[in-house]
Amino acid sequence: MFDHATDWLELVVRWLHIVTGVTWIGTSFYFNWLNNHVRPPETPEEGVAGDLWSVHGGAFYRVVKYRVAPEKLPKVLHWFKWEAYVTWISGFSLLALVYWLNAETFMVDNSVRVIAPWQAVAVGAGTLLIGWTVYHLLCKSPLGKHALPFGIVVFLLLSGVAFGLTQVIGARAAYIHVGALIGTIMAANVFFVIIPNQKIMVDAMVRGEEPDASLGQAGAQRSLHNNYFTLPVLFIMVSNHYPMTYGFEWNWAILIGISLAGALTRHWFNVRGKGEKNVWVLPVAAMLMLGLAFVTKPKTYADHRPVQFSEVRQVIERHCVRCHSATPTQDGFTAPPQGVMFDTREQIVQNAGRINTQVVVTKVMPLMDQEHITEEERDLIGAWFYQGALPD
Ligand code: HEC
Repeated sequence: MFDHATDWLELVVRWLHIVTGVTWIGTSFYFNWLNNHVRPPETPEEGVAGDLWSVHGGAFYRVVKYRVAPEKLPKVLHWFKWEAYVTWISGFSLLALVYWLNAETFMVDNSVRVIAPWQAVAVGAGTLLIGWTVYHLLCKSPLGKHALPFGIVVFLLLSGVAFGLTQVIGARAAYIHVGALIGTIMAANVFFVIIPNQKIMVDAMVRGEEPDASLGQAGAQRSLHNNYFTLPVLFIMVSNHYPMTYGFEWNWAILIGISLAGALTRHWFNVRGKGEKNVWVLPVAAMLMLGLAFVTKPKTYADHRPVQFSEVRQVIERHCVRCHSATPTQDGFTAPPQGVMFDTREQIVQNAGRINTQVVVTKVMPLMDQEHITEEERDLIGAWFYQGALPD
């Protein structure tokens, strides 16, 4: 009953997270696009930098961009901050609900490092807290003024986090925590810098004073960083569906490579929006993705001796059935995970493709590898699958 309730809670929180995340990134993309497409108005207007006409849903809209601010502020000014906050709050809840509360199952991986569940959670929480603090201090340091060197340093630091986490906790948890760190940086940028600075500037304008331009620059710096983070963070959030990424031997390098492809793609949109034609950026990102697909290709078993079904069944009985059964014996499991059961010959044969993916391609299963599965046992499954997954 408790499991059922937490499943529903998780569903609702995840749903909320996706909806607010879509809204946040959608708004951010829209304003980027707007900035790139406003043009000086046909009849010049005092203080107006540009305007833009659009049609949507049968109505016509005209958006006006001011050079600094309008003479007189309107009564109602929209801020666009709640979508960022709620995305973070729901994301953080999900991280705690799915990973931290189930640290023993989803964070600790004995084949990576033997640690206690609380240590895994401490590593995860510490990553978010220390990661944001280091990034924030770097932004304020002299390095923060130089966009490209700063970008390179942050990229290297995040790569270090990806590498470090994959040496301590399970690969999926490591991936998600890199994503959670980037998401935390993005939301904290909005909460601690972008919105407060805008508030101070607006207040100054209301008092009739000249707003402090450095506040606007600090906000613009963080907005730019958030812009480059969007595509990498979105990949990481769906990465759990792609075992060939986090399940690969050098999973941290794959994470870095795909993130780089995402940031490059974002860069291409940014420079294109400014009217520059940097044609090389997109093909480089595409080549990078092709290269990663090639590097992660599974091994073949063309030279392997014929494998009997009974050998495969033994491996599965030793390493899998305590969870994947109609009546699991593993502590904490009341039903077979994802409904996947290996009690009968038919169930094993039917699931051959998924078993191969989990055990051979990505090595994600067996979860909590208590019996220490060997490479030979994995190869038995791989070769059996390669030879047609026959039931003898
Ligand atoms: C300690 C419990 C446990 C053990 C042991 C275990 N699994 Fe799993 N397995 C899980 C859990 C939990 C999930 C669900 C994972 C998720 O929701 O992301 C799962 C999911 C799966 C899936 C479905 C994944 C998919 O997306 O297709 C397959 C297939 C699978 N396991 C195969 C195996 C095989 C084969 C073994 C033995 C070599 C094994 N498991 C051992 C707990 C276990």
